[in-house]
Amino acid sequence: MPTLLTINDIARQTGLEESLLRFYESECAEELPKKILRGDTLFFDKASVAVFTSIHSKYQAKKHLQKQSPEQYGRVIAVTSGKGGVGKTNIALGLTIEFQRQGKMSVVLDADMGLANVHLLSGITPQHDLMDLIKGKVEMSELIEAGPEGIGVIAGGNGMLALADSGKQDRHHIIQSLVSLEKAAEIIVVDTGAGMGQGVRDFLQAADELIFVITPDITSLADAYGLLKALHQGKMSPRPIYLVVNMVQTLKQAAVVATRFAGCAQDFLGISITNAGYILKDTTVTQATARQTPFSIFNPTARVSKNIRTIAANLLQQNMTEPTSSAFSRYLNLLPAEYQRPPP
Ligand SMILES: Nc1ncnc2c1ncn2[C@@H]1O[C@H](COP(=O)(O)OP(=O)(O)O)[C@@H](O)[C@H]1O
Ligand SMILES: [Mg+2]
Repeated sequence: MPTLLTINDIARQTGLEESLLRFYESECAEELPKKILRGDTLFFDKASVAVFTSIHSKYQAKKHLQKQSPEQYGRVIAVTSGKGGVGKTNIALGLTIEFQRQGKMSVVLDADMGLANVHLLSGITPQHDLMDLIKGKVEMSELIEAGPEGIGVIAGGNGMLALADSGKQDRHHIIQSLVSLEKAAEIIVVDTGAGMGQGVRDFLQAADELIFVITPDITSLADAYGLLKALHQGKMSPRPIYLVVNMVQTLKQAAVVATRFAGCAQDFLGISITNAGYILKDTTVTQATARQTPFSIFNPTARVSKNIRTIAANLLQQNMTEPTSSAFSRYLNLLPAEYQRPPP
């Protein structure tokens, strides 16, 4: 006569919840001994106890592995434009602060080789830049400066470009450092400068997401379109591309400009652009710039501060999954092959 056990008996003997046992019972029916019918009730055989325990161990091991892989990286969001002076630096810094305010560990990397001014706008003086990391003078942890409201700020200097030309230097080391940054921060906003140079374009091809900043000025639109076309011809793999229209007079103007740009991108290049929002033209921004303060800190209730908050919220909503490969590693792979050295 076999020992007959109810689900409660099994729960007591294995220490597992009844609901979990029911789940294992349905998922792994073929592994369990046949149930025994007595009267009109099905009972478990006593051998089931050991089987449930072993199924549980298997599931636990699987869960643990799933947690460790695939690896997750922070989102690398590149802010770019066709021409300078459209508000990239203000927007890159403003977004980083908003992401941080909305609970994401965020870092802004100043990769504008021509006019690096994220630090100027955040009111801090950089001690080191990416070049020092490339030369091995500092580690990544020393490079990240504490910026306003807890954001991290990294000065690029000529580092991003030097990386492209770093034939003799230890590129592997710097990529490892940047990958460690991607693992530490949830969002890395990169102020790339105007994107017409090849170095910037390689980086734009590698970033997880792109933000194009344009203004209602017709040359800004044309230059941004030119950049998008160049990226398209460079066989950029599909990635989210967002548009921010800055310095608009009215909401209607923002909508007209966004529709025109997105329409051209779709019709002529087959690229779909997501409108992430707009920022009004407002003296709050220039006043804040003059005081070396991010505008959303200078005046948190100004309309422009609400605008940037909306854009950040849109971006957070748009992409909920974290990247499973490293943008900086992709950048390395895009660089000319003769510069690449195998890891030591
Ligand atoms: N929404 C805005 N309203 C008014 N002035 C702005 C606005 N956005 C940027 N500016 C001003 O435009 C200039 C260029 O901004 P910046 O962020 O440095 O642009 P970029 O990085 O594209 O060169 C700065 O003087 C800044 O104060
Ligand atoms: Mg700038």
